[in-house]
Formats: sequence, structure tokens, C-alpha cells
Amino acid sequence: MDTHELARLYDFTGKTFVVTGGAGVLGGVAAGALYGCGANVILLGRNSGAVQTAAERLGARAMGVAADVTRRDDLTAALAAVKARFGPVHGLVNAAGGNMPGATTSAERSFFDLPEEALRQVFDLNLMGTVLPCQVFGRQMADQGEGAILNYSSLAALKPLTRTIGYSAAKAGVSNFTHWLAVHMAKTYSPNIRVNALAPGFFVGEQNRALLIDAATGELTSRGRAIIEHTPAGRFGKPEDLAGAALWLLSPAAAFVTGIVVAVDGGFSAFAGV
Ligand SMILES: NC(=O)c1ccc[n+]([C@@H]2O[C@H](COP(=O)([O-])OP(=O)(O)OC[C@H]3O[C@@H](n4cnc5c(N)ncnc54)[C@H](O)[C@@H]3O)[C@@H](O)[C@H]2O)c1
Repeated sequence: MDTHELARLYDFTGKTFVVTGGAGVLGGVAAGALYGCGANVILLGRNSGAVQTAAERLGARAMGVAADVTRRDDLTAALAAVKARFGPVHGLVNAAGGNMPGATTSAERSFFDLPEEALRQVFDLNLMGTVLPCQVFGRQMADQGEGAILNYSSLAALKPLTRTIGYSAAKAGVSNFTHWLAVHMAKTYSPNIRVNALAPGFFVGEQNRALLIDAATGELTSRGRAIIEHTPAGRFGKPEDLAGAALWLLSPAAAFVTGIVVAVDGGFSAFAGV
């Protein structure tokens, strides 16, 4: 195989991909990489202004669609809008997700006092917010016998992080669902429909910045230091670190790869600590 043939595997020209959470940091990386490799890219998110702006920034083959991933009606309307503009959908990236302070224990909030509503919201956003888009966009892939789905799990799914109970459990659900759907799609519909996930490690974003870096001093917090000491790569992830794994799993280069969760974590999950 020469570089020309390899490059062809990563040519997404004429293919249409929906990226939920595509205006966010890590979803934006997958969206940008797909767009850069020729795909039509739909940025789907709750905030209409944010998805429109991000789509305009990408260019003419991008489209912003406002939809809440926890609402089937929104997703069904989004599918209709995408089909009207670009035709069939070939791929789905489920990047919408995240944690909420109420679903995390702290000195002030013990496990026993965690509000039920906050836990339900985190389960709903991360797990149902992955399952529902797979139902709505995946049905079309089942009909056409072709497609690639990439879910965003987390290293918290492999080993739950202290304090982050709701998020860790929800992402473990996303990893488990990824295995289940990969088998279901291949055996019931077509082996040409593949379902995989990324498990990003620690990337500094708005949701976790205060936990990792002291805003006043700019120094690492004790949790931030513990993470770096436990990361063989010796640093936090940079968003662009996800691009290669995302493109690979969505491309025909991974034609024989389905049902796996790829850790992109600088070695965090491989390190026993001694
Ligand atoms: N940042 C990290 O360190 C990290 C680590 C592991 C996994 N992840 C996962 O990666 C994914 C992206 O994280 P990020 O850091 O880019 O977060 P982000 O907050 O930058 O992006 C998340 C995006 O999802 C959108 N969104 C939230 N709720 C939504 C809903 N109900 N419907 C539609 N869109 C919704 C937001 O508007 C936002 O654009 C998430 O699933 C997150 O759990 C992040």
C-alpha cells in the first residue's frame, strides 16, 4: 500500500457526517478533521447560534442544526433537514455530553445527598443523548447497509474517577452500548455498519478547568498534579490529539474494526501507578 492509496482511505468527499456537540471543543476537532478531508459536516447542538457560527467558520459544506440530543422530535427534524440539504447520512459522531457539578461529590455534598435530578440529567445527556441519535440516524444507516458511528466515552468509563459518580457511570453505559450496537448492527443489518468509541483522557476544557488549574495562580491543583503524575505522556491532552483516532475509526481504514473503545489518554489507563 502506498501513500496515494492510504490517502484515498481518508478522502471523505461526498460523504455526510453528523457531529452532535460539534460546536464544542472535542466534537469540533472531529468535525474539523472530517471537513478537512472533504466531508459534508452537520454540526448538531442545543445552542442554535453556536452551531451556526461554527458551521460558517468551517465553510460551505458545513451546516449548523439546532437540536437537543435528549429529544427524539428534535433529532427527527434534524434528520429531515440534513437529508433535504445533503441526502443520505453516512456517519454519526456522538460528542454531545459532559458532567454537571450537582452529580459530583464534594466536601459540601456527600454521595448520600447527591440530588436525584442532577444524576438523572447526567445519565440522560451522556447515555440517552448517545442512544437516541443512534436510533434516529442509525435507522437510515441500517436501511442503506452502510455507516460509521463514533461515540465519545471517557477514561472515567474504564475506571471511575473519585467524585464523578454520575458521569463515570453514564460513560460506562456509553462504552457498553457501543459494544452492543456494534454487534447488533453487524449481525442484524450489515457488517458495513461499524460502531466504535473514543475514551478521551484529561483535556482541559471549560467544564473541568477549575478542577485542574488554580484560576488565581495558574498552577496545577492537587487533582491536576495527580493526573499529570499518573499520565506517562506527562501532560493534558490537546484537542487535536483526538483527530487521528477519530478519522481512523470513521474511515474505511478501520473497515475490520467495530465494537472497540480507543483510549486517547497519554497512557493514563495503562499505568498502574508504580
Ligand atoms: N474534555 C475532556 O477532558 C473530556 C474527557 C473525556 C470525555 N469527554 C467527552 O467528550 C465530549 C465533548 O466534550 P468537550 O470537552 O468538547 O465539551 P464541550 O462542552 O466543549 O462540548 C459539548 C457540546 O455538547 C453540546 N451539548 C450539551 N448538551 C447538549 C444537548 N442536550 N443536546 C445537544 N448538544 C448538547 C454543548 O452545547 C457543547 O457544544 C463529551 O461527551 C465529553 O463527556 C471530554
